[in-house]
Amino acid sequence: MASQMNPDDKPILKALRGEAQTRPPVWVMRQAGRYLPEYRALREQARDFVNFCMTPELAAEATLQPLRRFDLSAAILFADILLVPMAMGCDLRFEAGEGPKLSCIRDRSDVARLRTKGALDVLAPVGETVARVKAQLAPDVALIGFAGAPWTVAAYMIEGEGSRDQMAARVWAWEDRDAFEALLDALVIVTADYLTMQARAGAEVLKLFDSWASGLPEPMFERAVIAPTAAIVRRLRAAGVETPIIGFPRGAGVLAERYAKETGVDCVALDQSVPLAWARDHVQAHRPVQGNLDNALLRAGGAEMDSAIDAIIEAFAGGGHIFNLGHGITPDAPIGHMERLVNRVRHG
Ligand code: CP3
Repeated sequence: MASQMNPDDKPILKALRGEAQTRPPVWVMRQAGRYLPEYRALREQARDFVNFCMTPELAAEATLQPLRRFDLSAAILFADILLVPMAMGCDLRFEAGEGPKLSCIRDRSDVARLRTKGALDVLAPVGETVARVKAQLAPDVALIGFAGAPWTVAAYMIEGEGSRDQMAARVWAWEDRDAFEALLDALVIVTADYLTMQARAGAEVLKLFDSWASGLPEPMFERAVIAPTAAIVRRLRAAGVETPIIGFPRGAGVLAERYAKETGVDCVALDQSVPLAWARDHVQAHRPVQGNLDNALLRAGGAEMDSAIDAIIEAFAGGGHIFNLGHGITPDAPIGHMERLVNRVRHG
């Protein structure tokens, strides 16, 4: 019975230990978001998006909203990867229709002025959100905490906003290795402390989003993605945090294999461009995997979505697998399609 479930038996935790299950656990990136009318209503109660994330009562409610509609295996903390640079001293704004704007690094000497000590105090409300959600969660549902991975967050800090190819950040990384590594090191420290705080507050899984891991040549992938991710995993384990970690090197392509072998993460999240048979043989052979339905198929729905879901489940049936999209659900995805996806994954 669910109410007597041993927390270790939560399906997502079994998948993270590499256990094959008849039906995989399922959650969806951005499952709390604008495609839900109740999310849009809740968001209006906050002054702005940052205030929404930093108000535990509202953020906990946003985290729980999708669980009331859909039979999901996990809740993901409602927050944002850019709260970390904000806590380190960057000015952060989300402008309607424009995405995030960050300002803190205009030139390389600004790296030295970033705050590492004290950043965690700013992020304390997020720990409170975790604790609030945990207290309200159904016994078979796990709570996922998260942070941005250093490369993706550094790229936002350098670019000041989202960018198509992260050119400024990539140039910097080659041109001034010392300043770039100082920035990554600062992010490793704060991110590891932040995830430790989330684990202690009750997060049962941690996820590192490296949304901009695509397009790096192998030596830079090693330096900017693998090394800082491995450093965070080591710091967490040294702090006594045993919580399983999912890493998401979006767009890494064949480098996902090195990522699986060398970072120490417990599970690799795959985007939709990774072929299933390759992923099974080269990634799932080393670590459990998460993913990887095309978010455009969730938008489209219908028989094409159903057969793609079935193919993913079949490909990964031999080992640990958590069903998810290859990237976040879009604001225009129909709620009925999301219901259909969850039912299909759960019951076939
Ligand atoms: O997945 C979840 O439901 C948990 C909450 C969550 C959010 N952002 C809430 C959010 C998570 C895990 C994130 C991670 C995040 N944030 C990433 C990594 C994942 C990815 O998508 O690649 C990135 C790159 C960001 C930075 C960010 N935050 C951008 C680029 C934007 C604007 C894009 C958009 O969709 O508007 C955000 C805003 C944001 N973060 C929203 C949500 C629900 C939309 C804000 C709104 O309500 O208008």
